[in-house]
Amino acid sequence: MADENQPCSSKKRKRNTEMETKIKFSFSLTNKIGMLAGALDILKSHEVNLCHINSTPNTENSEEFHFIVICDNTGELKEAFAKLKKIAINFEIMSVPWFPKDIGDLDNIDPKTFTSGEELKAEHPGFNDAEYKKRRTEVAKLSCDYKHDHKIPRVYYTKEERNTWGTVYNKLVELYPDHACATFNRNFQLLQTECNYRATDIPQLEVVSKFLQNRTGFRLRPAPGLISPRDFLAALALRTFYTTQYIRHKSKPEFTPEPDICHELLGHVPLFADEDFAQFAQEIGLASLGAPFKHIRKLSRLYWYTVEVGLLKEDGKKKVYGAALLSSAHELDLCLRDSAKIEIFDPEETCKKKPILSETQNTYFETESFDILNEKMRKFAETNSRPFDVEAIWSAEGIFLKRC
Ligand SMILES: [Fe+2]
Repeated sequence: MADENQPCSSKKRKRNTEMETKIKFSFSLTNKIGMLAGALDILKSHEVNLCHINSTPNTENSEEFHFIVICDNTGELKEAFAKLKKIAINFEIMSVPWFPKDIGDLDNIDPKTFTSGEELKAEHPGFNDAEYKKRRTEVAKLSCDYKHDHKIPRVYYTKEERNTWGTVYNKLVELYPDHACATFNRNFQLLQTECNYRATDIPQLEVVSKFLQNRTGFRLRPAPGLISPRDFLAALALRTFYTTQYIRHKSKPEFTPEPDICHELLGHVPLFADEDFAQFAQEIGLASLGAPFKHIRKLSRLYWYTVEVGLLKEDGKKKVYGAALLSSAHELDLCLRDSAKIEIFDPEETCKKKPILSETQNTYFETESFDILNEKMRKFAETNSRPFDVEAIWSAEGIFLKRC
């Protein structure tokens, strides 16, 4: 997921039309003095910014006027619409900001939404290594033409890349029994048996994605780099996880400032094989669909402090379930030391804290179980000012998302 300050890359996306960030709704009012002023007052008091309003006499009822309104996806829309419904007749939301309705819709995301390739930040260990940057771009480009019904491109990793993987793998496998949560360790063993996780070779995404689909319906989708928070979270609603394929720089196997194949396969995959965790990740995704940017930012932070760097209290002991920690030997060790600052995960408070994306964290958040995590997130989802809900419907063809 890209930096949270990137406002959903709306300028870059092909599908981008003005209506992608707008909400269109209609209602009728009785033709009495002050009715329209009352409706406008409601919208104003909830900071709803109107972009267009059209009024026509109701052809079926001469006592009424019909209004079609377009507004920005900002302000307290849910509250404003609830009040408007009390004074208006036939209130209807006509359109909401675009979000993917099925897995095929993910093909509509413009590759430019991803940030990939040569422009590494100066703190990246491969910043001064031209060969590394060239290879990283080569691997990243493999996924650029990917469509949902394609096989995930196979990467023929070099001996040097396999060595880097082996170094990372061996160090982490030593730490997992004492540091990782029980769910992670259980599923990691399964991956060793069923997907041939081992130090000597890097598993291919296609094999691992099939394994996940059989376990929880989650699937991996190859990505050339980081993606905007809105698009990244939307894919989670469809139980789809954007996954990079290139590997970190050999000079720093214990830490990477960006996702890489070690981070994805070792950090994320074992948890996505657990139904409770998969449900939690999907809930974050569902809450993001069509939500205002302000809410997307909160959800991105909650995603970070749980899925990436979350801690669990298990039988009275601190354990790790966050993927960024489980793929970094350095921080995995650091986060469980007595000196680490740990707070209780509370979505309302935690979402106020800006994440540290390319260094180790100064605070971690702990929860008691994935059940409790789910419960807290569901409660938090109610604070969304989005004036509609989205339901996930499972069918033989996959997951479909429906506005309700
Ligand atoms: Fe990640």
